[in-house]
Amino acid sequence: MSSADPAAKAASRRGANVGGGAQVDIGPIQTFLHCGTPDAWVEEACQPGNLPALLTDHANCERKAAESALATIKRYGASHLPVSFRNDLLQKMSRLAREELRHFEQVLAIIGQRKLEYLPLGAGRYAVGLRAEISSDEPQRLVDSLLVGGIIEARSCERFAALAPHLDPELASFYTSLLKSESRHFQDYLKLAAQISDENAVQERCEQLLSVEAKLISEPDGQLRFHSGVPIGVSD
Ligand SMILES: [Fe+2]
Ligand SMILES: [Fe+2]
Repeated sequence: MSSADPAAKAASRRGANVGGGAQVDIGPIQTFLHCGTPDAWVEEACQPGNLPALLTDHANCERKAAESALATIKRYGASHLPVSFRNDLLQKMSRLAREELRHFEQVLAIIGQRKLEYLPLGAGRYAVGLRAEISSDEPQRLVDSLLVGGIIEARSCERFAALAPHLDPELASFYTSLLKSESRHFQDYLKLAAQISDENAVQERCEQLLSVEAKLISEPDGQLRFHSGVPIGVSD
């Protein structure tokens, strides 16, 4: 892995074209999130010895994103939601699941090509911590699930852009290529949440969840994961 110059890093963090991928403006995502990725996380994630863990966890994240979308289809497919909204929800979740599995396959291919180990990693605290905030009662459960989905997509985008300038050209290009679909997933989740609830209530709830998310990103974390916090004494 290599470090790019500061100007290239700053341009990339705004979503400039890195490694030949499509240009995506992630400025709105950076504004949406309450904090940026800590420099200490980027430094740890870019250590060559941590690449198997980073890629394994990334693959796991893509699989879990697909599973979450499929779980949403299963839960709400025959529900009493308004028909037009339900159809929109199912269409978007189906496309999202396909795209996330495609990303899973791409990460797997990179792990294989580089002869890296697919590690037996446990789940990190990030998604668990965020999902613990989801209400168990409808209709809030669906709104919360959509908002949490959108926040995770936003953080993924922000991390891809933060990482890309520190990676070798192949990985930088791959991460930049993911920005387009992941930023669309972010928008899809938030639009769906706004369609089924009062706009002010959704906004207020989203800010609460973003505060929880920022704590998870900013606090010390003993594990290195794609969405982990500030690395402290990192172990598997
Ligand atoms: Fe993805
Ligand atoms: Fe995604």
